Amino acid sequence: MKRVLSGIQPSGQLTLGNYIGAIQNFVKLQQDHECYFMVVDMHAITVPQDPAALREQSESVATLYVAAGIDPAKANIFMQSHVPGHAELGWMLTTLTSMGELERMTQFKDKSAGKESVGAGLFVYPALMAADILIYNADLVPVGDDQKQHLELTRDLAGRFNGRYGDYFTIPEPYIPKVGARIMSLDDASKKMSKSNPNQGSFIALLDPPDVIRKKLSRATTDSGREVQYDPANKPEVSNLMSIYAHCANLTLDQVQAKYDGLGYGAFKKDLAEVVVSVLEPLQQRYHDIRESGEIHNILRQGAERAAVVAAKTVRDAKERMGFLPEQ
Ligand code: TYM
Repeated sequence: MKRVLSGIQPSGQLTLGNYIGAIQNFVKLQQDHECYFMVVDMHAITVPQDPAALREQSESVATLYVAAGIDPAKANIFMQSHVPGHAELGWMLTTLTSMGELERMTQFKDKSAGKESVGAGLFVYPALMAADILIYNADLVPVGDDQKQHLELTRDLAGRFNGRYGDYFTIPEPYIPKVGARIMSLDDASKKMSKSNPNQGSFIALLDPPDVIRKKLSRATTDSGREVQYDPANKPEVSNLMSIYAHCANLTLDQVQAKYDGLGYGAFKKDLAEVVVSVLEPLQQRYHDIRESGEIHNILRQGAERAAVVAAKTVRDAKERMGFLPEQ
C-alpha cells in the first residue's frame, strides 16, 4: 500500500482553504493508502506562539481532522512533537541543504519580508518539512499549491541523500487538487486565503458560526458584470467562489456554471453560503462532540505510537548510512 503523509500548522484558525486544498484529500486518500496526518507544532514555533494558544490550537486542529472525516482506525493522526525522529532527521537533512536553496523559498521570503528580526527556524523550516515526509518514505503528499516549492526541495534532498549514501529514501510526489489548490482571499482574489490574515472577513474559518459564514460570503468581493462564469484570468473573484461552491457541493465547475446561467451573482452567492454551511455545520457539531468527549488524546497517543515505530527505524537507518557510530 502506498504511503501518504501531510501536516497542517496549528498557528491559527483553519480555513476553508486548508479544508479544500488539503483536508478533503486526506479524507479521500485514507481509503486506500497508509496515511500519516500530523499537526505540525514544531513548524508553528518558527514564529512566536503563546504557549496556551498553541496548546489549544493543537488540540483544535487534531479534532478538526477527525471531525472532517479522517478516521483514526484508517489513518495515523498525531502531533509532530510526539515523534522525536522528525527533529532528529530534520537536523541531518539541514546539513545537506544549502543556504541558497533556503533563500529561494518564496514562503520564507513572504514570511520574513519587512521583519526586523527573523528566526533561524523559519529559514531552515523546509528541511524539517522534508524530514516529515521522508521519515515515512511517503509516496504521496497531499498539499495546496503554496507547498509545491517545499516539495521540490524535499525531492532534491531525498535524491542528494540517496546519491551520497546509497538509495534509501522514496522520492515523494505532490498530490495537488486541480481545482481548489489555491483558494483565494474573499476580499482580494490576488492573495491566497490565509488564517494569518488580520482581516477576519477575508477567510472562512472552519469553526465560523453559520451566520458569520453567510455574512462573510455575502460581503465577498465580486468582479464587475453579473455572469457566473469560470474565468480565473478575467473574473478571479467569481471563479474563486465557484471553486468553493464546486468543492462543497461536489459538482464540477461546468455544472455550477450551468446551474447559475443567467441568474446573476446575487442568487449564486446566496446559495453558495448555504452550500458552505451545509458542509461546515455538521463538521462543527462533530467537532464539539469530540472536544467534549476528550477522545482526541487517545487518538493522538495511538497515532504517535505507530508513527514512532516507523520513524525510529528510518532515523536508525539514515544515521548508519551517514556514518554515525551505532548504539550498542
Ligand atoms: P499550512 O499549515 O500553511 O497549510 C496546510 C495545508 O493547507 C493548504 N492551504 C491551502 N490550500 C488551498 N488554498 C489555500 N488558500 C490554502 N491555504 C493553505 C496548504 O497548501 C497545506 O497543504 N509547511 C506546511 C505544513 C507542513 C507539511 C509538512 C505539509 C509541515 N510539514 C509535510 C505536508 C507535508 C504548511 O505550512 O501548511
